Amino acid sequence: DKPIKIGVAGLGTVGVGVVKILAAHGDLLAARGGARLELVAVSARDRNRDRGVDLSALAWCDNPVDLAARDDVDVVVELIGGSDGPALALARETLKRGKSFVTANKALIAHHGKELATLAEEKGASLRFEAAVAGGIPIIKSLREGLAANAITGVHGILNGTCNYILTRMEREGLPFGEVLADAQRIGYAEADPSFDIDGIDTAHKTAILASLAFGTEPDMGNLAIEGIRTIAPVDIDYAAELGFRIKLLGVARQMEAGVETRVYPALVPLAAPLAQVMGGTNAVVVHADFVGRTVYEGAGAGEGPTASAVVADLVDVARGCGGPTFGIPAGSLKTAKAIPADAH
Ligand code: NDP
Ligand code: HSE
Repeated sequence: DKPIKIGVAGLGTVGVGVVKILAAHGDLLAARGGARLELVAVSARDRNRDRGVDLSALAWCDNPVDLAARDDVDVVVELIGGSDGPALALARETLKRGKSFVTANKALIAHHGKELATLAEEKGASLRFEAAVAGGIPIIKSLREGLAANAITGVHGILNGTCNYILTRMEREGLPFGEVLADAQRIGYAEADPSFDIDGIDTAHKTAILASLAFGTEPDMGNLAIEGIRTIAPVDIDYAAELGFRIKLLGVARQMEAGVETRVYPALVPLAAPLAQVMGGTNAVVVHADFVGRTVYEGAGAGEGPTASAVVADLVDVARGCGGPTFGIPAGSLKTAKAIPADAH
Protein backbone atom coordinates (compact mmCIF):
# COMPACT_ATOMS: atom_id res chain seq x y z
CA ASP A 1 0.00 0.00 0.00
CA LYS A 2 1.04 3.61 -0.61
CA PRO A 3 2.56 5.21 2.50
CA ILE A 4 0.71 8.02 4.26
CA LYS A 5 3.04 11.02 4.17
CA ILE A 6 3.05 13.20 7.25
CA GLY A 7 4.07 16.76 8.01
CA VAL A 8 4.57 17.73 11.66
CA ALA A 9 4.37 21.35 12.83
CA GLY A 10 5.90 21.85 16.27
CA LEU A 11 8.87 19.89 17.58
CA GLY A 12 8.60 20.50 21.31
CA THR A 13 7.62 17.98 23.97
CA VAL A 14 4.84 16.33 21.96
CA GLY A 15 6.30 16.79 18.46
CA VAL A 16 9.55 15.07 19.41
CA GLY A 17 7.52 12.28 21.01
CA VAL A 18 5.65 11.76 17.74
CA VAL A 19 8.90 11.63 15.75
CA LYS A 20 10.24 8.99 18.17
CA ILE A 21 7.15 6.75 17.98
CA LEU A 22 7.02 6.94 14.18
CA ALA A 23 10.69 5.92 14.09
CA ALA A 24 10.42 3.20 16.73
CA HIS A 25 7.19 1.52 15.62
CA GLY A 26 7.23 1.72 11.80
CA ASP A 27 6.30 -1.93 11.21
CA LEU A 28 3.75 -2.11 14.01
CA LEU A 29 1.99 1.03 12.83
CA ALA A 30 2.01 -0.16 9.20
CA ALA A 31 0.45 -3.46 10.25
CA ARG A 32 -2.24 -1.71 12.28
CA GLY A 33 -3.00 1.11 9.86
CA GLY A 34 -2.61 -0.85 6.63
CA ALA A 35 -0.09 1.69 5.27
CA ARG A 36 3.28 2.97 6.40
CA LEU A 37 3.25 6.30 8.27
CA GLU A 38 6.12 8.19 6.70
CA LEU A 39 7.30 11.47 8.21
CA VAL A 40 8.44 13.69 5.34
CA ALA A 41 8.44 17.31 6.54
CA VAL A 42 8.60 19.29 9.77
CA SER A 43 8.35 22.86 11.01
CA ALA A 44 9.39 24.67 14.19
CA ARG A 45 10.80 28.09 15.04
CA ASP A 46 14.46 27.20 15.50
CA ARG A 47 15.88 25.11 12.70
CA ASN A 48 19.26 24.66 14.37
CA ARG A 49 18.18 23.37 17.78
CA ASP A 50 19.31 19.83 18.62
CA ARG A 51 16.09 18.05 19.57
CA GLY A 52 17.65 14.65 20.23
CA VAL A 53 16.04 13.08 17.15
CA ASP A 54 17.38 12.71 13.60
CA LEU A 55 15.62 15.16 11.28
CA SER A 56 18.32 15.20 8.59
CA ALA A 57 16.28 13.38 5.94
CA LEU A 58 13.20 15.57 6.36
CA ALA A 59 12.12 18.70 4.53
CA TRP A 60 12.00 21.83 6.73
CA CYS A 61 9.35 24.56 6.51
CA ASP A 62 10.07 27.87 8.22
CA ASN A 63 6.38 28.70 7.97
CA PRO A 64 4.24 25.82 9.31
CA VAL A 65 1.35 26.72 7.00
CA ASP A 66 3.56 25.71 4.05
CA LEU A 67 3.27 22.09 5.19
CA ALA A 68 -0.36 22.05 4.03
CA ALA A 69 0.56 23.03 0.47
CA ARG A 70 3.32 20.47 -0.01
CA ASP A 71 2.44 17.83 -2.62
CA ASP A 72 4.35 15.23 -0.62
CA VAL A 73 2.28 15.79 2.56
CA ASP A 74 -1.03 13.89 2.92
CA VAL A 75 -1.72 14.55 6.61
CA VAL A 76 -0.68 17.45 8.81
CA VAL A 77 -0.03 17.11 12.55
CA GLU A 78 -0.21 20.38 14.49
CA LEU A 79 1.73 20.48 17.77
CA ILE A 80 2.43 24.19 18.07
CA GLY A 81 -0.38 25.25 20.39
CA GLY A 82 -2.54 28.35 20.75
CA SER A 83 -6.15 28.89 19.75
CA ASP A 84 -5.31 31.24 16.88
CA GLY A 85 -2.14 32.26 15.01
CA PRO A 86 -0.22 29.63 13.05
CA ALA A 87 -2.15 26.69 14.52
CA LEU A 88 -5.49 27.99 13.23
CA ALA A 89 -4.05 29.11 9.90
CA LEU A 90 -2.51 25.68 9.40
CA ALA A 91 -5.73 23.87 10.34
CA ARG A 92 -7.79 25.92 7.88
CA GLU A 93 -5.28 25.58 5.05
CA THR A 94 -4.88 21.82 5.55
CA LEU A 95 -8.59 21.07 5.70
CA LYS A 96 -9.42 23.42 2.80
CA ARG A 97 -7.13 21.28 0.71
CA GLY A 98 -9.05 18.16 1.76
CA LYS A 99 -6.10 16.82 3.76
CA SER A 100 -6.57 15.30 7.19
CA PHE A 101 -5.49 17.23 10.26
CA VAL A 102 -4.40 15.79 13.60
CA THR A 103 -3.78 17.99 16.63
CA ALA A 104 -3.19 17.88 20.39
CA ASN A 105 -4.36 21.48 20.66
CA LYS A 106 -7.36 21.75 22.96
CA ALA A 107 -7.44 25.55 22.80
CA LEU A 108 -7.84 25.37 19.02
CA ILE A 109 -10.64 22.80 19.18
CA ALA A 110 -12.45 24.46 22.10
CA HIS A 111 -12.51 27.80 20.26
CA HIS A 112 -12.80 26.75 16.60
CA GLY A 113 -13.98 23.13 16.76
CA LYS A 114 -17.27 23.64 14.97
CA GLU A 115 -15.79 25.70 12.14
CA LEU A 116 -12.98 23.19 11.59
CA ALA A 117 -15.27 20.16 11.83
CA THR A 118 -17.60 21.75 9.27
CA LEU A 119 -14.68 22.35 6.92
CA ALA A 120 -13.37 18.79 7.41
CA GLU A 121 -16.78 17.27 6.70
CA GLU A 122 -17.34 19.46 3.62
CA LYS A 123 -13.96 18.47 2.21
CA GLY A 124 -14.12 14.77 3.18
CA ALA A 125 -11.06 15.14 5.40
CA SER A 126 -10.56 13.83 8.89
CA LEU A 127 -10.07 16.12 11.91
CA ARG A 128 -8.69 14.24 14.92
CA PHE A 129 -7.72 15.44 18.40
CA GLU A 130 -7.47 12.45 20.75
CA ALA A 131 -4.43 13.95 22.50
CA ALA A 132 -6.25 17.19 23.27
CA VAL A 133 -8.08 15.82 26.31
CA ALA A 134 -6.48 13.78 29.11
CA GLY A 135 -3.24 13.01 27.23
CA GLY A 136 -2.87 9.27 26.71
CA ILE A 137 -6.40 8.29 27.83
CA PRO A 138 -8.54 7.45 24.78
CA ILE A 139 -11.49 9.48 26.06
CA ILE A 140 -12.43 11.12 22.75
CA LYS A 141 -12.71 7.73 21.09
CA SER A 142 -14.63 6.38 24.07
CA LEU A 143 -17.23 9.16 23.91
CA ARG A 144 -17.49 9.22 20.12
CA GLU A 145 -17.37 5.48 19.49
CA GLY A 146 -17.36 3.24 22.55
CA LEU A 147 -20.36 4.90 24.21
CA ALA A 148 -22.22 5.74 20.97
CA ALA A 149 -25.23 3.65 22.03
CA ASN A 150 -25.87 5.75 25.13
CA ALA A 151 -27.37 9.06 26.11
CA ILE A 152 -24.70 10.63 28.28
CA THR A 153 -25.83 12.45 31.40
CA GLY A 154 -22.53 13.70 32.79
CA VAL A 155 -18.78 13.66 32.38
CA HIS A 156 -16.24 14.93 34.88
CA GLY A 157 -12.65 14.41 35.82
CA ILE A 158 -9.13 15.46 36.59
CA LEU A 159 -8.09 16.83 33.22
CA ASN A 160 -4.90 18.78 33.90
CA GLY A 161 -1.69 16.92 34.72
CA THR A 162 0.17 20.02 35.83
CA CYS A 163 -2.39 20.93 38.50
CA ASN A 164 -2.72 17.38 39.76
CA TYR A 165 1.06 17.09 39.94
CA ILE A 166 1.29 20.37 41.87
CA LEU A 167 -1.45 19.42 44.34
CA THR A 168 0.11 15.97 44.85
CA ARG A 169 3.59 17.25 45.62
CA MET A 170 2.30 20.07 47.81
CA GLU A 171 0.47 17.44 49.87
CA ARG A 172 3.17 14.76 49.97
CA GLU A 173 6.26 16.91 50.28
CA GLY A 174 4.92 20.17 51.65
CA LEU A 175 6.61 22.02 48.79
CA PRO A 176 5.56 25.54 47.83
CA PHE A 177 3.35 26.01 44.76
CA GLY A 178 5.95 27.86 42.64
CA GLU A 179 8.68 25.27 43.13
CA VAL A 180 6.47 22.38 42.01
CA LEU A 181 5.15 24.37 39.04
CA ALA A 182 8.76 24.85 37.86
CA ASP A 183 9.23 21.06 38.02
CA ALA A 184 6.02 20.51 36.02
CA GLN A 185 7.40 22.84 33.36
CA ARG A 186 10.73 20.98 33.28
CA ILE A 187 9.00 17.61 32.83
CA GLY A 188 7.01 18.98 29.88
CA TYR A 189 3.54 18.89 31.49
CA ALA A 190 2.80 22.61 31.52
CA GLU A 191 1.45 24.77 28.72
CA ALA A 192 3.78 27.35 27.11
CA ASP A 193 1.96 29.86 29.33
CA PRO A 194 1.43 27.91 32.58
CA SER A 195 -1.27 30.29 33.77
CA PHE A 196 -3.51 28.32 31.38
CA ASP A 197 -2.91 25.30 33.63
CA ILE A 198 -3.10 26.83 37.09
CA ASP A 199 -5.97 29.21 36.35
CA GLY A 200 -8.13 26.37 35.04
CA ILE A 201 -8.30 27.52 31.41
CA ASP A 202 -6.70 24.35 30.04
CA THR A 203 -9.19 22.25 32.02
CA ALA A 204 -11.94 24.49 30.66
CA HIS A 205 -10.84 23.87 27.06
CA LYS A 206 -10.94 20.13 27.72
CA THR A 207 -14.29 20.32 29.50
CA ALA A 208 -15.79 22.24 26.57
CA ILE A 209 -14.62 19.51 24.18
CA LEU A 210 -15.95 16.70 26.37
CA ALA A 211 -19.30 18.47 26.73
CA SER A 212 -19.53 18.79 22.97
CA LEU A 213 -18.91 15.09 22.39
CA ALA A 214 -21.17 14.06 25.25
CA PHE A 215 -24.15 16.28 24.54
CA GLY A 216 -23.95 17.07 20.80
CA THR A 217 -23.43 20.78 21.44
CA GLU A 218 -20.88 23.03 19.78
CA PRO A 219 -17.75 23.63 21.91
CA ASP A 220 -18.57 26.70 23.97
CA MET A 221 -16.11 28.51 26.21
CA GLY A 222 -18.53 31.37 26.85
CA ASN A 223 -20.60 29.75 29.54
CA LEU A 224 -17.94 27.96 31.55
CA ALA A 225 -17.44 28.99 35.17
CA ILE A 226 -13.68 28.73 35.71
CA GLU A 227 -11.69 28.73 38.95
CA GLY A 228 -8.11 27.45 39.14
CA ILE A 229 -5.72 26.41 41.91
CA ARG A 230 -3.53 29.50 42.16
CA THR A 231 -4.82 30.37 45.63
CA ILE A 232 -4.63 26.88 47.13
CA ALA A 233 -2.14 26.85 50.01
CA PRO A 234 -0.65 23.88 51.90
CA VAL A 235 -2.92 24.72 54.83
CA ASP A 236 -6.02 24.19 52.61
CA ILE A 237 -4.73 20.77 51.63
CA ASP A 238 -4.09 19.90 55.31
CA TYR A 239 -7.55 21.03 56.45
CA ALA A 240 -9.16 19.10 53.61
CA ALA A 241 -7.28 15.94 54.69
CA GLU A 242 -8.35 16.41 58.34
CA LEU A 243 -11.96 16.47 57.16
CA GLY A 244 -11.49 13.35 54.95
CA PHE A 245 -11.11 15.07 51.59
CA ARG A 246 -8.47 15.75 48.95
CA ILE A 247 -8.49 18.87 46.78
CA LYS A 248 -8.67 18.12 43.05
CA LEU A 249 -9.15 20.48 40.15
CA LEU A 250 -12.17 19.10 38.30
CA GLY A 251 -13.77 19.81 34.96
CA VAL A 252 -17.47 18.99 35.11
CA ALA A 253 -20.12 18.88 32.37
CA ARG A 254 -23.65 17.82 33.28
CA GLN A 255 -26.90 17.65 31.40
CA MET A 256 -29.35 19.50 33.63
CA GLU A 257 -33.01 20.22 32.94
CA ALA A 258 -32.17 23.88 32.28
CA GLY A 259 -29.29 23.07 29.92
CA VAL A 260 -25.69 21.91 30.01
CA GLU A 261 -23.73 22.96 33.08
CA THR A 262 -19.97 23.24 32.56
CA ARG A 263 -17.61 24.28 35.35
CA VAL A 264 -13.99 24.06 36.43
CA TYR A 265 -13.18 24.34 40.13
CA PRO A 266 -10.99 22.94 42.89
CA ALA A 267 -13.31 20.40 44.52
CA LEU A 268 -13.22 18.64 47.87
CA VAL A 269 -13.21 14.98 46.79
CA PRO A 270 -13.94 12.40 49.54
CA LEU A 271 -10.81 10.30 50.15
CA ALA A 272 -12.75 7.09 49.41
CA ALA A 273 -13.80 8.27 45.93
CA PRO A 274 -11.79 6.93 42.94
CA LEU A 275 -10.77 10.43 41.82
CA ALA A 276 -9.12 11.12 45.20
CA GLN A 277 -6.62 8.34 44.50
CA VAL A 278 -5.47 9.83 41.18
CA MET A 279 -2.08 11.40 41.88
CA GLY A 280 0.75 13.19 40.07
CA GLY A 281 0.47 13.79 36.33
CA THR A 282 -2.26 11.17 36.04
CA ASN A 283 -5.70 12.17 34.77
CA ALA A 284 -9.03 10.39 35.22
CA VAL A 285 -12.43 10.83 33.60
CA VAL A 286 -15.79 9.53 34.82
CA VAL A 287 -18.68 9.23 32.38
CA HIS A 288 -22.30 8.60 33.36
CA ALA A 289 -24.45 7.17 30.58
CA ASP A 290 -27.92 5.64 30.52
CA PHE A 291 -27.43 2.05 29.37
CA VAL A 292 -23.83 1.34 30.35
CA GLY A 293 -23.91 3.20 33.67
CA ARG A 294 -20.70 4.65 35.04
CA THR A 295 -17.37 4.13 33.26
CA VAL A 296 -14.01 5.38 34.59
CA TYR A 297 -10.85 6.05 32.58
CA GLU A 298 -7.42 6.68 34.09
CA GLY A 299 -3.92 7.20 32.73
CA ALA A 300 -1.09 9.61 32.08
CA GLY A 301 -2.58 13.00 31.28
CA ALA A 302 0.45 14.88 29.98
CA GLY A 303 4.06 14.52 28.89
CA GLU A 304 5.92 13.36 25.82
CA GLY A 305 5.17 9.63 25.53
CA PRO A 306 1.50 9.53 26.57
CA THR A 307 0.50 12.54 24.48
CA ALA A 308 2.43 11.41 21.41
CA SER A 309 0.83 7.98 21.81
CA ALA A 310 -2.62 9.56 21.34
CA VAL A 311 -1.45 11.64 18.36
CA VAL A 312 -0.03 8.60 16.58
CA ALA A 313 -3.19 6.60 17.33
CA ASP A 314 -5.09 9.30 15.41
CA LEU A 315 -2.66 8.86 12.51
CA VAL A 316 -3.32 5.12 12.50
CA ASP A 317 -7.06 5.89 12.34
CA VAL A 318 -6.48 8.22 9.40
CA ALA A 319 -4.45 5.48 7.66
CA ARG A 320 -7.30 3.03 8.25
CA GLY A 321 -9.71 5.50 6.67
CA CYS A 322 -11.76 5.71 9.87
CA GLY A 323 -14.15 8.50 9.18
CA GLY A 324 -17.33 9.64 10.79
CA PRO A 325 -18.18 13.11 12.00
CA THR A 326 -15.64 14.87 14.16
CA PHE A 327 -17.89 15.32 17.21
CA GLY A 328 -19.90 12.13 16.72
CA ILE A 329 -22.73 13.89 14.88
CA PRO A 330 -22.43 16.07 11.76
CA ALA A 331 -20.99 19.49 12.58
CA GLY A 332 -24.10 21.14 11.10
CA SER A 333 -26.26 19.31 13.65
CA LEU A 334 -24.29 20.44 16.71
CA LYS A 335 -26.72 22.39 18.87
CA THR A 336 -25.93 25.72 20.40
CA ALA A 337 -25.48 24.80 24.04
CA LYS A 338 -28.49 25.97 26.04
CA ALA A 339 -25.97 26.65 28.71
CA ILE A 340 -26.39 27.67 32.29
CA PRO A 341 -24.55 31.01 32.36
CA ALA A 342 -21.25 31.10 34.22
CA ASP A 343 -22.46 33.85 36.54
CA ALA A 344 -25.36 31.69 37.69
CA HIS A 345 -23.06 29.41 39.70
P1 NDP B 1 6.15 23.00 23.22
O1 NDP B 1 6.12 24.40 23.69
O2 NDP B 1 7.07 22.04 23.87
O3 NDP B 1 6.44 22.96 21.66
C1 NDP B 1 5.86 23.86 20.76
C2 NDP B 1 6.55 23.72 19.43
O4 NDP B 1 5.93 24.60 18.50
C3 NDP B 1 8.05 24.08 19.46
O5 NDP B 1 8.78 23.14 18.74
C4 NDP B 1 8.12 25.46 18.75
O6 NDP B 1 9.31 25.65 18.02
C5 NDP B 1 6.96 25.31 17.79
N1 NDP B 1 6.43 26.61 17.38
C6 NDP B 1 5.97 27.61 18.15
N2 NDP B 1 5.58 28.65 17.39
C7 NDP B 1 5.80 28.28 16.11
C8 NDP B 1 5.61 28.91 14.87
N3 NDP B 1 5.11 30.13 14.77
N4 NDP B 1 5.98 28.24 13.76
C9 NDP B 1 6.48 26.99 13.82
N5 NDP B 1 6.68 26.34 14.99
C10 NDP B 1 6.33 26.97 16.11
O7 NDP B 1 4.64 22.48 23.31
P2 NDP B 1 4.11 21.02 23.61
O8 NDP B 1 4.78 20.05 22.74
O9 NDP B 1 4.09 20.80 25.07
O10 NDP B 1 2.58 21.18 23.18
C11 NDP B 1 2.19 21.22 21.84
C12 NDP B 1 0.67 21.14 21.77
O11 NDP B 1 0.23 19.94 22.40
C13 NDP B 1 -0.07 22.27 22.49
O12 NDP B 1 -1.26 22.55 21.82
C14 NDP B 1 -0.37 21.66 23.86
O13 NDP B 1 -1.48 22.27 24.48
C15 NDP B 1 -0.69 20.25 23.46
N6 NDP B 1 -0.55 19.24 24.48
C16 NDP B 1 0.61 19.18 25.21
C17 NDP B 1 0.75 18.21 26.17
C18 NDP B 1 1.97 18.11 27.01
O14 NDP B 1 1.96 17.26 27.91
N7 NDP B 1 3.02 18.85 26.76
C19 NDP B 1 -0.32 17.23 26.41
C20 NDP B 1 -1.48 17.38 25.56
C21 NDP B 1 -1.57 18.37 24.64
P3 NDP B 1 10.76 25.75 18.71
O15 NDP B 1 10.98 24.43 19.37
O16 NDP B 1 11.70 25.99 17.60
O17 NDP B 1 10.66 26.87 19.71
N1 HSE C 1 -0.64 21.29 30.23
C1 HSE C 1 -1.50 20.16 30.08
C2 HSE C 1 -1.62 19.44 31.40
C3 HSE C 1 -0.95 19.23 29.05
O1 HSE C 1 -0.82 19.72 32.30
O2 HSE C 1 -2.51 18.61 31.54
C4 HSE C 1 -1.87 18.08 28.73
O3 HSE C 1 -3.01 18.52 28.08
